[in-house]
Parts: sequence; structure tokens; C-alpha cells
Amino acid sequence: MANFKNLQVTNSMELHLALEGRQDLAGQLYRQLRAAILDGRLANGDRLPAMRFLAERLAVSRKTVGEAYERLAAEGFLQGKVGSGTYVSAQVLAVEHPPAATAALRANPRWQALAARPRLPPQLPVRYSFAGGTTDKRRFPFDAWRACLHRALRLQARSPAFYAEVLGYPELRLAISRYLAINRGVRCDWNDILVSQGAQQAIDLLARVMLVPGDLAVVEEPGYPPIRLAFEAAGARVVGVPVDDEGLRVDCLPEQAKLVYVTPSHQFPLGQPMSLQRRLQLLEWARERQALIIEDDYDGEYRFDGRPLESLQSLDREGRVAYVGTFSKTLFPELRLGYLLMPAALRAELRVAKQLADQHSESLQQLALAHFIGSGAFAKHTRRLQREYAQRRQHLLNRLNGDLAPWLEALPAVAGMHLVARLRQPRDLVRLCAELERRGVFLISLAPFYAEGLAMPGLLFGFGAIETADIDPALDILRELLSQA
Ligand SMILES: Cc1ncc(COP(=O)(O)O)c(C=O)c1O
Repeated sequence: MANFKNLQVTNSMELHLALEGRQDLAGQLYRQLRAAILDGRLANGDRLPAMRFLAERLAVSRKTVGEAYERLAAEGFLQGKVGSGTYVSAQVLAVEHPPAATAALRANPRWQALAARPRLPPQLPVRYSFAGGTTDKRRFPFDAWRACLHRALRLQARSPAFYAEVLGYPELRLAISRYLAINRGVRCDWNDILVSQGAQQAIDLLARVMLVPGDLAVVEEPGYPPIRLAFEAAGARVVGVPVDDEGLRVDCLPEQAKLVYVTPSHQFPLGQPMSLQRRLQLLEWARERQALIIEDDYDGEYRFDGRPLESLQSLDREGRVAYVGTFSKTLFPELRLGYLLMPAALRAELRVAKQLADQHSESLQQLALAHFIGSGAFAKHTRRLQREYAQRRQHLLNRLNGDLAPWLEALPAVAGMHLVARLRQPRDLVRLCAELERRGVFLISLAPFYAEGLAMPGLLFGFGAIETADIDPALDILRELLSQA
């Protein structure tokens, strides 16, 4: 019979040991501890239990445990410290892990193909970062957030231990619906809001409930790659439709598309808003084909010029628009909080899809966010960021339209947290970006955002991560490199 024991090895971890029969007990113990060290379950510096304690737990003699420990110590896996105990030794850290035994498993070919796709360049820890999609965490009011989390914990402690509502806490859905009505001109009933893990999950859920393999789905070209992948994962054939200075070219839409994904407030990545005329054309197009429009308003909170145009959702009279928003650009992306304003016709299916994905979004943060919005802390924070980003954006524009103008032309954009500049003369952007990185500047080209055609030669300047004072030294390095023939 096997003698199973979970063994407390560190303050937070238990190691599972199983001794079989009465034969070679020291050898069994030795092999299991050795394997645990080699595969990393026992880490360098972990303290093993005292021999007497372990012998009692496993119902073996102290001599048995002593033999196993001695053998491991002789091979350099353990080290005894006088008066302190027995520890996993540093010498074995370099041991390579054997290849996983699961190598023979084969995933669904569709997912294999997705896994083989190039990823967006990772943000690098450099001196000056123009990474896109990053908010300024240094200005996040962590004290106010902590107070909201404490309050949420108190509420949670008092509520029954069960799952929460699949679509999200009513308090938060109500707060989001008010925010959308007041700040974004989006009218909605809070019952139509689904709280998601970021915009990405909201769009993934829409893909799951709308698409069957072989369906045609449209994204913008250029566009945000993970959205295209979500549609492909659902089995769709994905077509990129070009954008011009009025947004998506509605006249280029393929006839059979089942859904069309757009970023009308601030085209990602180029930045232009979709004109009112295009919005109306797109709605008309979708009405005639019974198609769904996904409106991704990912960073429209930040506006720097003029009045916002009416959202597609508020222009729509037929319930054809699924409006998606996120707190990734107003709070920070690791929180994974976003929302979907569900078209009435898809509500029941979206609720099931959300339940199957994760039952509901994490509850503590939902409650905290409801209070953060309700108490006015959210509005105060976004106003503050708006001022800060306006300053950074203006500074960037002054340079792009000033001493960098011989090489770069800033594309018009009135919202969001990044600007795009087109290169006046083609040049090797892979080399330029690599050289910038070597000099401590993170800046990426537009190439990763084009899936089908030739990329416009240009650079994407995110200003969520960079302080105003750091913009000049970073751009000085860029100018120096651009001016080298
Ligand atoms: C256009 C666009 N849509 C969606 C997202 C995803 O946002 P979330 O973090 O809420 O999933 C991003 C993130 O950068 C984005 O740029």
C-alpha cells in the first residue's frame, strides 16, 4: 500500500510524497526528493523538514530518512547547516529539465497556426519608452484604489460564499452605464452591460457566439492583431479592409461578411476618426446584410480637439452594434477590466459564452471599481491624465512638426494615447528601431499592424509611458539617427 503524505517544505508549499510497500524506503525517498529538486518543485534554499519529523509523518525510521538525506547531500543536492537544518543546495540550479513528456500531443491545427504567428513586439525596459497602449501607473491614485479594495473586501466578507452574477456586479454595470451616458454619449440600460476581462475577452465572446467556421469576418487594415486572431480562432476567414483618412473604406467591404470590427473614435493604429458619413454608410451596409458591427472604443476617453462624433452605437436604430470599452487605458491593463454593451438579440448567448469562459469576472476588483467610479475618483483620475497626456502629445507634435519634419509627417489624430508619423523617405525601419533600442529608446514601426498588404513606412509614438521631460532627449537620439544618411 502506498503511504501518501503532503510534506510542508516551505512556509507556503507542500510537497507530495508517496512511499510504496516496505522495500527500499530510503531509495524511494531519495528519488522523489531528487526529482522534486531537479524539476524545480523544491527550490534552491528551501528548508527540508527535520529528520525526526519527516520519519514520523511517513511512518518510517529516522535511519531511512537519514540515508536519503545523506545520499542527496553527498551528490550536492542538499546542504546541512549546523543548528539550522537541511537546505536545498545552490549547486544544482543549472540542471536542465528533461523535455516534457507531452511533446507528442497535437493541438487543433487552427490553434497551432495561431501559435506560430509573430507576436507584437514586447515592451522593453529601456530608458525612454514610446510603447503604445501603456498608461501612466505612476499617476494612478493607489491610495484611493486601496480604500476601494478594502471596502470591497468588507462587502465580500459579509456576502454568501457563492458565485456572483455572470454578467458582472449590478453596482458596476450601473456605474458603467452612467459613465457611458454622461461621458461618451452612449445610451444604455445597465442590464445590457457585460463586465469582461478587458476588451479582448468581450470581442472573443462576440466571435464565439457569432461565427461558425468558414464565416467571413472583417477587420481594419492596418489593425490590432489580437482581434484578427480571435476571429480566426473561431474558424472565420478574416479579411482586412483598408482605411483612409475617413476611416474604414465601406465601399471595399466584401458582400458576405458576417461581422465588421472597427475603431471609429481613433483608428488603431493610424489615429484618424471615422467620419460621420462613413459611420452612416457602415450602418446602412450592415442593415442590408444583417451583419454585426463591433465598435471598439478602446481609448476614446482622451480627446484633444473638437467634439467627439456620435458613436456608431448611438446612431444605430436596429441593435446591430456591439459597443466595447476597456479600463486598460484609463486605469491600467493588468487589471483586465472591460465591458461590452450587448445587442439585445445576442444577450442570452453572450451570457452563456461568458459563463463558459470564466463564470464571471473577478469579483473584488469589480466591487472596488464600482466604488471608484461612484465616488468620483475615476473621473478625477482621467481628468488628470487627460491634462498630462495633452501636454505630452503637444510636446511630441511640436517636435514632429518642427525639427523632425524633414523626415517625419505626423498623421492627424484628435484622441487616444499615441500618434503615428509617416516617414517621408523609405528607410530600413528594422535597423532604425534596433539602433534606437541599443541607445535606450523603445519605438516600433507600423509593420506588425499590417496583416495583408505592404506596411506604410511609419512609427508609432505611444505617450502613456514616457514623461514629458523625457520626450526631448529621446527624440534627439531619433533625430541623430534619422539625419545619418
Ligand atoms: C485597438 C485595441 N483594442 C483592444 C485592445 C485590448 O484591450 P484590453 O486590454 O482591454 O483587452 C487594445 C489594447 O491595446 C487595442 O489597442
